[in-house]
Amino acid sequence: MARMAGGAVLVTGAGGGMGRAHCIRLAEEGADVVALDLAHDAALAATADAVRATGRACVTAAADVSDGDALRTAVDGAVTALGRRLTAVIANAGVYDTPGPSWTIDPAVWARSLDVNLTGVWHTVQAGVAHMTDAGGSVVIVSSTAGIKAIPTASHYSAAKHGVVGLARTLANELGARSIRVNTVHPGSVATPMILNERTFANLCPGLDDPTEADAAAVLASRNLLPVAWIAPEDVSNVVLFLASDESRYMTGSQLVIDAGLTQKV
Ligand SMILES: NC(=O)c1ccc[n+]([C@@H]2O[C@H](COP(=O)([O-])OP(=O)(O)OC[C@H]3O[C@@H](n4cnc5c(N)ncnc54)[C@H](O)[C@@H]3O)[C@@H](O)[C@H]2O)c1
Repeated sequence: MARMAGGAVLVTGAGGGMGRAHCIRLAEEGADVVALDLAHDAALAATADAVRATGRACVTAAADVSDGDALRTAVDGAVTALGRRLTAVIANAGVYDTPGPSWTIDPAVWARSLDVNLTGVWHTVQAGVAHMTDAGGSVVIVSSTAGIKAIPTASHYSAAKHGVVGLARTLANELGARSIRVNTVHPGSVATPMILNERTFANLCPGLDDPTEADAAAVLASRNLLPVAWIAPEDVSNVVLFLASDESRYMTGSQLVIDAGLTQKV
């Protein structure tokens, strides 16, 4: 029997990176999907096509998760179009903007990081839980290793990613009686556009003029216990699948780390 049989999930940040991988993996295991991203663009359409290729239904929705009203309207419309209540909410959308020492971070960059990575998760839970079944369900919040340990030059990101842990723990208390579980996932480096870009390569290799992906990979690999620079989005999707499915039915308020050993390396 498929691991998400009878399931219906909302995934934010579904147009690319990990969000698309979550949609496909959950659909492969039997879930219908509401796939939400900033716009109804080709990337989101490609996610929907990939979900439908598994045989499951997919409804797309467009909103900025930092805009609570717009998000609620988009989710309400998409869930109505799907025609069924949600069994899981995957708060995955996130941004990682210009890093720097804490005292140099542009106030607009700070505000946007908190608006999307923390407040956007709160909005997502508000919008999604309103459509969850009476039989309970699962909320999965994608945090980061930056939600467990510091990342110097990324306080705007790390503060938000720590913040969602407090949000998840609180939600787990508030929603437990309704059998809705709330857990966070903490990936290390993942091969998505968020880190596979020249700006990130330059940040990782400040001593090099034109660092390549291989240069950045060497730096990131040196931070892990396992001999890899980064993991694939699908590796994280498998953890999301576990938390979204009944296999984790008595897990709530917990933090699952998938980081090739990044947070344990001494
Ligand atoms: N890539 C990594 O190494 C890494 C590591 C740990 C945690 N994460 C987290 O995983 C999640 C997914 O990251 P990713 O690597 O797939 O990123 P990505 O940049 O590849 O994709 C993010 C997706 O979210 C969407 N998005 C961004 N802001 C949005 C908003 N305000 N409203 C709606 N959608 C929005 C983007 O359009 C994009 O489709 C994020 O929360 C990120 O912080 C990433």
